[in-house]
Amino acid sequence: MQDPLKAICDDKLERRWLWISLIMAGGMGFLLGMYALSNNLHPPSNVETIDSSRLHLTEEFAEDNLGVKENEDGSLTVTMVAARYGFFPPVVEVPTDTPVKFRVASADVLHGFHVPYTNATTMIVPGYVSEVSTSFPTAGSYSFLCNEYCGLGHDSMWSRLTVVDKSAGGDK
Ligand code: CUA
Repeated sequence: MQDPLKAICDDKLERRWLWISLIMAGGMGFLLGMYALSNNLHPPSNVETIDSSRLHLTEEFAEDNLGVKENEDGSLTVTMVAARYGFFPPVVEVPTDTPVKFRVASADVLHGFHVPYTNATTMIVPGYVSEVSTSFPTAGSYSFLCNEYCGLGHDSMWSRLTVVDKSAGGDK
């Protein structure tokens, strides 16, 4: 049988190593594929679908309902929309040491959600609601950054997160 790699390589030993590396790469690709299939892998964080073209018609992601809401147990839920090129609402304020759950949906393409120096990071895949739960121990001014290339305005896609000291906040 003629070695198909002979067309690109004359040396027998080199061809042998080419085969070994091709088989290894193929084997790893196969394992990854089987792993994804058998574990039913989905977009990160949350498996909850939504029609990205109709966000404004949903109750949760309608423009007037975005932002910070307090839950009965004292934790917060922050609802946000990511769209080219910004996060809405553009300014979010939360207290320190309080569980915060971000629920973010994209109105158009794939975006990223990242708050530097914290563990809050996820992808915002169109058609899904992304969820990140965290809390912020340190007061200060943070940014939401988009870390998935989403178009020409990607570089300027960010908004402001202000974490205020809970004890100084007073009447919460
Ligand atoms: Cu949105 Cu990059």
